[in-house]
Amino acid sequence: MSQTTTTAADANTRTARKDIAMLKPAKEFSAKAHIKSLAHYRKLYAESVANPDGFWGRQAETELVWDKPFKKVLQFKAPHAKWFLGGKLNVSANCLDKWLDTPHANKAAILWEGEPAAPGKPGEERTITYRQLHRDVCMFANVLKRHGIKKGDRVLIYLPMVPEAAVAMLACTRIGAVHSVVFGGFSAQSVADRVYDSQARMIITADGGFRRGSVVQLKKSVDEALAIKGADGTPLAKTIEKVIVLRRTQTDIHIQEGRDVWWHRELEYVSADCPATPMDSEAPLFILYTSGSTGKPKGILHTTAGYLLGAKLTSRYVFDLRDEDVYWCTADIGWVTGHSYVVYGPLANGATSLMYEGAPNWPEPDRFWKIIAKYRVTILYTAPTAIRAFMKWGDQWPKKHDLSSLRLLGSVGEPINPEAWMWYHEVIGGKRCPIVDTWWQTETGAIMITPLPGATPTKPGTATLPFFGIVPEIVDDAGKTLPNNSSGKLVIRKPWPSMLRGVWGDPKRFVETYWSEVKGSYFTGDGCHVDKDGYFWIIGRIDDVLNVAGHRIGTAEVESALASNPNVAEAAVVGRPDELKGQALVAFVTLKSGIKAHPELREELRQHVGKEIGPVAKPDDIRFADALPKTRSGKIMRRLLKQIASGVEIKGDTTTLEDLSVLAKLATAED
Ligand code: WTA
Repeated sequence: MSQTTTTAADANTRTARKDIAMLKPAKEFSAKAHIKSLAHYRKLYAESVANPDGFWGRQAETELVWDKPFKKVLQFKAPHAKWFLGGKLNVSANCLDKWLDTPHANKAAILWEGEPAAPGKPGEERTITYRQLHRDVCMFANVLKRHGIKKGDRVLIYLPMVPEAAVAMLACTRIGAVHSVVFGGFSAQSVADRVYDSQARMIITADGGFRRGSVVQLKKSVDEALAIKGADGTPLAKTIEKVIVLRRTQTDIHIQEGRDVWWHRELEYVSADCPATPMDSEAPLFILYTSGSTGKPKGILHTTAGYLLGAKLTSRYVFDLRDEDVYWCTADIGWVTGHSYVVYGPLANGATSLMYEGAPNWPEPDRFWKIIAKYRVTILYTAPTAIRAFMKWGDQWPKKHDLSSLRLLGSVGEPINPEAWMWYHEVIGGKRCPIVDTWWQTETGAIMITPLPGATPTKPGTATLPFFGIVPEIVDDAGKTLPNNSSGKLVIRKPWPSMLRGVWGDPKRFVETYWSEVKGSYFTGDGCHVDKDGYFWIIGRIDDVLNVAGHRIGTAEVESALASNPNVAEAAVVGRPDELKGQALVAFVTLKSGIKAHPELREELRQHVGKEIGPVAKPDDIRFADALPKTRSGKIMRRLLKQIASGVEIKGDTTTLEDLSVLAKLATAED
């Protein structure tokens, strides 16, 4: 809890700041919103938690299209929940077929903006209607079938931000295959590890992806991944039978006869007729790997009905979606935000979802604002780390463009500092757009704590109040609920439909990580302050997981990557506050005897981590030391390392420290 106690103070100062006033939703906004007042929200919320079976049952009946109605809303024996028992439905049918005989059929489902080749050049663009997307998904689902993919099989998706990524996901759901999307910025090793863990039969990838004017060699990484051998000498990814390759960059790639096939060629063999397979409510839908506090990422498992309901309802109410909206969530589909709020949530609502392939500052720092003006985007959902970068690049970039189409702004991924909130509100939102600061996790599947834009008065820096049916509380170390005006561990007391159902292949880790800290409740891993109004101020992770530029990175994962370099004896990785990224990674490294520290080695180690995990996990700072501070029982004293990394004076009890002189050396260690 050490991090909570130090940073709880931050949240307290944030809440106590005089310049942070409540901002009431504008009357014009509330008048048209789905939920129009705080009283309206409170009434519905009270009903939803007083009678969860009634609430969720009604929502599931009215929101989802069922092939077979469910018989029972919930069966819960902590930590195992089953929702909507006995029901059958299909996710792709709910996102696509549902709209075919309606005026939505010819509405844009996806607006896609490709990365421009160079400054001054326009990006490629595509508009895909619901009808076209349905056809693309049916055809690609037939391709999957043609290659023997069946209900329950795992399929790994490793693609750039192109519409085919959504097509691949939806095609899996159409036939009941379980997708696992791996972020295109992850390395070959990460791909191999995820194939091994999920025992996937197929990889869907591209020849490459465009990023800041260069090509990310995705297929090459897949080739490398398929060659990586495990401890027993056999390939980690030996379960892979087929690799489907999308042509995107026209890069020269190796095609292995019999194993690798081109996406466009495959389409020649299939029809556009592919009925959606009715799936059990609890059938696995997808696995998404996320960092935890051990070296091995966990495969978070989501299932069919509950996940879809969560994504759909939150998209509608939190973003106050209307038919005419042009909605843009800037997340990559490799993260859960991309799953729930680029693909499933918007499409289940018949909305228009914008997808952008590239970086926010390529070719120039006004890329986002250009896109907003071009498509008349009405809702923008992005991350605080991006907002802070925009602030740094300067107001002149957004000011060059007409952002008057925007009516709502969203934030996700980490606590948003009040300065960034105010800038977002004033410079991007022109003081007229409500901001929804949404707290949730890969594990929760959908937004959990959030303002409802027409109802909830906001304060910069707080995610405010729980969504319908969600019961968050803060507790002390004994699991006792704490009153308002205090800080503690954030737990969720009642089950909710889009909650994770397990850690793939590791039931023990599921129980230990989420259900052992506080008996009978889901433990989020976050520390939180609740103010006098009952508003939730997320403080940050209290486990050994960092939030770097909105990405979750387990320190243990980076440590084991460093330790796998032949020069390294031992490594400890901690976070330090960073103005842009929220947190930056600092690695303390001791080298094997006989190895001398030098600046090139630092770069070599950074590259090594990039290769093992991906560029997002490269340490920002590597400090070499003769030894790491340890307790007498041999535990690395992370609390001290955190203080050293942040350059603060060492406070607290060091009496258990084995070798005090280590501290002084670390504080000054440069090479
Ligand atoms: C953090 C991303 C403060 C939090 C959807 C959580 C936030 C972790 C917020 C999950 C927010 C996410 N305010 N902190 N609005 N949203 N977080 O799994 O620490 O990538 O536990 O899911 O991000 O990260 P994940």
